[in-house]
Amino acid sequence: MKREGKSNHAGPRDSSDGAPLPRPLPSRKPKSQFIKPRLTLFTSTLWEYPSQHYGDTIQGDKNYIGATPSWVIWQCLTRYTKQNDLVIDPMCGSGTTLDVCKDLKRRALGFDLASHTRRPDIRRADARNLPVENSKADFVFVDPPYSTHVRYSDDPNCIGRLDALDPGHENNYYQAMRRVISEIHRILKPGANMALYVSDSHRKDEGFAPIGFNLFSIMRERLRPVDIVAVVRHNAKLDKGNYRKAADEGNFMMRGFNYLFIMQRP
Ligand SMILES: C[S@@+](CC[C@H](N)C(=O)[O-])C[C@H]1O[C@@H](n2cnc3c(N)ncnc32)[C@H](O)[C@@H]1O
Repeated sequence: MKREGKSNHAGPRDSSDGAPLPRPLPSRKPKSQFIKPRLTLFTSTLWEYPSQHYGDTIQGDKNYIGATPSWVIWQCLTRYTKQNDLVIDPMCGSGTTLDVCKDLKRRALGFDLASHTRRPDIRRADARNLPVENSKADFVFVDPPYSTHVRYSDDPNCIGRLDALDPGHENNYYQAMRRVISEIHRILKPGANMALYVSDSHRKDEGFAPIGFNLFSIMRERLRPVDIVAVVRHNAKLDKGNYRKAADEGNFMMRGFNYLFIMQRP
């Protein structure tokens, strides 16, 4: 009589009958292949996606330091605009916003001080003085310099040259951004929305600049808050030993999220 659970075929079971156990086959690890999840509209105010870009193509330029994750722009445009709406990015860098607009069939205008040499569809302009008529835009997306973290260009008008942590001169950054925000307000249609994507700044031994809250209060002078989203940063620096060590020794924290402030022109 067969005992419960004991089978007749050779397999990895006890060898109570004295037969040697068969050797296990060498394990073949399946090659790990990263598959991006399909991007769908997020429903909470905490946004995270495991890649800089959505889909099979690249939006913007993956080698552009300081490029915006394209899926953040995709979320904004999908939620707050419709086909053929005019979207304007006054600091458009490598043109990520323009590419997302193409994907979503929105009309787009992109400006930057420096990047016009990279692509002909980005026009050279200072974001404080845009060549756009009043009340034209259905949506504005902007990812400005967060103080001096990245050197975007040698243009003396680059706002990325103004240090929000420089004692006595920190207001230069906020004054410049106040003019950018005033220009965004001017070009937005009444009732239209804008999104500003930004991070605070912390420099070892120099301290902390709450850039997000400061820009939010400047925006509130003219614009109505619609929502505030925290966007998880997948920054390779966060995992690097020397950065972690500096943060541990200096008892400060690295930036783990960006703000996405969504505002409306009343
Ligand atoms: C964070 S990057 C924008 C990244 C862009 N969204 C992308 O995905 O590539 C900030 C940009 O602001 C631009 N910039 C700085 N000062 C400016 C100004 N006064 N007017 C227009 N653009 C400016 C820089 O040249 C830089 O390209």
